[in-house]
Amino acid sequence: MRNLFPLLLLAACSSTTTIGGDTAGGNDTAGGDTGVPSPDFCGAKQIFNDHCTVCHSASGHKGDLDLETDPYSALVGVQSAAYGQTLVVAGDPSSSLLYLKMTGQQGANGEVMPTNGALPAALTDVVKTWITDGASSECNAVDTGSGKYHPSGWDDPSQHGMAAKFQSDDCKSCHGDSLQGGSSSVTCDDCHDAGWQDDCTFCHGGTDGDKLGSPGEDLDDSTTSLTFEPHRAHTDDTSLHDAFACSQCHVTHDTALSASHFLDTADTAPGTAEMTFSKGLSDKATYAGGTCSNLYCHGDGTGDNGTIKSSGSVSGCNDCHKSSGLNGKHDDHLEEGVGCEECHSTTASSSTKIKDPTMHVNGSVEVALPAGMSYDGSHCDGSCHNRKHDNEKW
Ligand code: HEC
Ligand code: HEC
Ligand code: HEC
Ligand code: HEC
Ligand code: HEC
Ligand code: HEC
Ligand code: HEC
Repeated sequence: MRNLFPLLLLAACSSTTTIGGDTAGGNDTAGGDTGVPSPDFCGAKQIFNDHCTVCHSASGHKGDLDLETDPYSALVGVQSAAYGQTLVVAGDPSSSLLYLKMTGQQGANGEVMPTNGALPAALTDVVKTWITDGASSECNAVDTGSGKYHPSGWDDPSQHGMAAKFQSDDCKSCHGDSLQGGSSSVTCDDCHDAGWQDDCTFCHGGTDGDKLGSPGEDLDDSTTSLTFEPHRAHTDDTSLHDAFACSQCHVTHDTALSASHFLDTADTAPGTAEMTFSKGLSDKATYAGGTCSNLYCHGDGTGDNGTIKSSGSVSGCNDCHKSSGLNGKHDDHLEEGVGCEECHSTTASSSTKIKDPTMHVNGSVEVALPAGMSYDGSHCDGSCHNRKHDNEKW
């Protein structure tokens, strides 16, 4: 069955040669613009990306050859099912069908590659040297003069930006520890605006423009399925409490290159935000699978006794402190219709409304009694609602 492919594709190919030529851009792609790639596997890969994957893609794979997914495994020591000849014989270009087809020496074994004519010798020599040198999968020569390490299209942030955020390659090893160029001589600042490393919104999205930012998007740039949806309820929504800093729940950062942040190769889970509650109000809190437990903030105000799911919601005051069961003489007063605002006048303006969010869920209980009343931490003195409270225990 596989033997039929080349014939069928050959027929298809002759009618699409010009299209292939246009899109593959035989002469006008990166190879021409940026000089000759390094004579190693990365150089060869660069040539495949620029001139071959238009037909030999993961989905198209003409000639049953996919040069996109894993070109090394597709070529080295692999026999062509159509022609019986090995595609790449390490150390021997003149026995390698790949090289023969790239230089028009394939004889009866199908067409020259690319189909609209062999590439300039400068490029086919890259493949020749790579094979002669043993067809290693390593990219030894990072040729900073003219060579290219990255595939074409790498300047696109969806390529290099994602690779950087998810650390699929160690950028610092070539671009330097402070990203000022290193052995590659390419500094990230060439294209990025000054101060990008301190601009939180550059990677975390949001339009706030403030230094801290708020994660307006996931690390994969998605704004519709935020990993932790209630983020903004914590960082922006000030109806119940003051805006929480990132440090309530994470080790926070001043700049992209701080420890355990962006591009930290010591990070065992790159691309995942680490949860660290120890610097926050809920220092006993734990997070697992979308649920926070042992929480002070979502507790009843008496200890680390709250739990909430990231899909949960806070719909009223009683979600946290119940309408009864607070300590001391709370129930006695609440049953008489005395509102929170009478004894916590700086925090609440009624039993259902917070007056000053900076006083609420801030780690301290502000008791502020009506004029003429005082509280010493255990007893009340004074007169209220026409009733004397001299040295009454709370
Ligand atoms: C316009 C489409 C097109 C482009 C561009 C193209 N190829 Fe091909 N390739 C084909 C077709 C069709 C076949 C099957 C017919 C043949 O073998 O000649 C094929 C077959 C091959 C084969 C033989 C595979 C096998 O297992 O028998 C190799 C090797 C190959 N191409 C390498 C390349 C290389 C390297 C490039 C880029 C320098 C390239 N091709 C560019 C269409 C293309
Ligand atoms: C093995 C060395 C090496 C590593 C690792 C490396 N680079 Fe590069 N990078 C280079 C070289 C050399 C160049 C200049 C030639 C080129 O474009 O390939 C370059 C160029 C670039 C360019 C400019 C591309 C263009 O088309 O103008 C960007 C962007 C880039 N690198 C980002 C990154 C990022 C992000 C990482 C990490 C995910 C990374 N690099 C890892 C060596 C490296
Ligand atoms: C050839 C130009 C160029 C170079 C060089 C470059 N970048 Fe970028 N990068 C961009 C552009 C354009 C954006 C989109 C944002 C913008 O417009 O500033 C971007 C965005 C990013 C993003 C954010 C992506 C996102 O989706 O959130 C990261 C991360 C990134 N680059 C990392 C790097 C690193 C690390 C280097 C150096 C190793 C580097 N870039 C070098 C052009 C470049
Ligand atoms: C109330 C606690 C809390 C606060 C405050 C908080 N976060 Fe998070 N954050 C989380 C949780 C929980 C996750 C989900 C972690 C997971 O999925 O493993 C998360 C995830 C993230 C992620 C990863 C998103 C992704 O793509 O996976 C980033 C980035 C992030 N937070 C940044 C921030 C920044 C920046 C701030 C401050 C502006 C902040 N967070 C404030 C709890 C918080
Ligand atoms: C160049 C991209 C970039 C910039 C700029 C950036 N971050 Fe991040 N940030 C990341 C990445 C990537 C992660 C996921 C970290 C990981 O893998 O541990 C992250 C994670 C975080 C987290 C979650 C905790 C953690 O370390 O996992 C916080 C909080 C955070 N960033 C705050 C900030 C703040 C504040 C700023 C601005 C001073 C900022 N970030 C700027 C890329 C960036
Ligand atoms: C009659 C005065 C009074 C009223 C009314 C009152 N509180 Fe309190 N509240 C106090 C005092 C006094 C304390 C301090 C107790 C202590 O020192 O331990 C306190 C403490 C608290 C605490 C800390 C946890 C605890 O149980 O000690 C919470 C939470 C609280 N109040 C919530 C409320 C809410 C919510 C309302 C309204 C529904 C309210 N209080 C109404 C006097 C009052
Ligand atoms: C997310 C949980 C949560 C919700 C919802 C909540 N509280 Fe609280 N509240 C607390 C915690 C925790 C405390 C403990 C003291 C502190 O840190 O301010 C507290 C304390 C209080 C106090 C005591 C005074 C003080 O300064 O702390 C009052 C009064 C109060 N809350 C009123 C309200 C009212 C009114 C609402 C509804 C509008 C409300 N709370 C909703 C968690 C919550």
